[in-house]
Amino acid sequence: MQAMEPDEKYLYKYKGFYFQPDLTPVECLDTLEDFEIRDSDVFLFTYPKSGTVWTENILSLIYHEGHRDGTENLNLLDRFLSLEFNIRKMDYASCPSPRLFASHLPYYLVPKGLRNKSAKVVYVVRNPKDVLVSNYHFSKTAVTLEEVEDFGIFMERFLAGKVLASLWLDHVEGWFSHRDDFNILFLTYEEMKKDLRSSVLKLCNFLGKRLTEKEVDAVVEQATFNKMKADPRANFEFLPPDIIDHSKGHFLRKGTIGDWKNTMTVAQNERFDSVFKERMEKLPIKFCWDINDEL
Ligand code: A3P
Repeated sequence: MQAMEPDEKYLYKYKGFYFQPDLTPVECLDTLEDFEIRDSDVFLFTYPKSGTVWTENILSLIYHEGHRDGTENLNLLDRFLSLEFNIRKMDYASCPSPRLFASHLPYYLVPKGLRNKSAKVVYVVRNPKDVLVSNYHFSKTAVTLEEVEDFGIFMERFLAGKVLASLWLDHVEGWFSHRDDFNILFLTYEEMKKDLRSSVLKLCNFLGKRLTEKEVDAVVEQATFNKMKADPRANFEFLPPDIIDHSKGHFLRKGTIGDWKNTMTVAQNERFDSVFKERMEKLPIKFCWDINDEL
């Protein structure tokens, strides 16, 4: 099955990468290369549906004491800045340090100042079958994305990279093969899910943040799926209805490893492997496909 070209109303290509016209204007992308970086900046990069909001929450809990002890009533949009989705048209130059940014950009479109390695970069990767299924469900709730009812058609688009953020393999391969250009920490969604505390400690260590045992406990507790789902500051239910149709599903949907098995048929799984397996085997990541698998 040949995947159709994406509808231009929902996606357009800029330097070989798919963006959403409603959320990322070309003028914004044109300025990113020279975007001024501060040494204290922290950047989170992900392919969509890999645990971006989860990691944003963890990073902001690590950084903001008030949030950790529950005295700050800020939602995630106020705590994290989005590099290419500046929906609120904020002036990032006037934001206080340390600035925390999230982005889905591929390595080759990021601000060039990141290559002097002073600012810290975190990249989170998730197994691509769960990414695919999460994306499929998300496309139904996201008003700015084209809704594709048929999962088989959606999967072909994903395998052909004709989706937001283009081909998963290119994104992940690109970031891994250029890791020496950045001051970067790689984490997997699966290790976060299986051992959240170790992942939080890994992040603290990389960021040079010394938290007490009690503070680490507070981060871990507030970053679990159930806690985030119930926390209006973290669950993305605050996104406006012109971005998310909350009646069609929740942003924090399943939050587990292996949910792809509930959507993909055996034949679809085989088709997926036939397209992705060879390149995936060359990636320096051990993937985990089920919540019961060892890491
Ligand atoms: P599912 O759709 O599989 O549930 P992103 O933020 O990159 O868009 O990723 C969204 C995915 O991360 C969703 O996956 C969401 O449920 C999951 N997620 C968000 N917070 C999480 C948490 N605290 N624990 C586990 N998964 C989480």
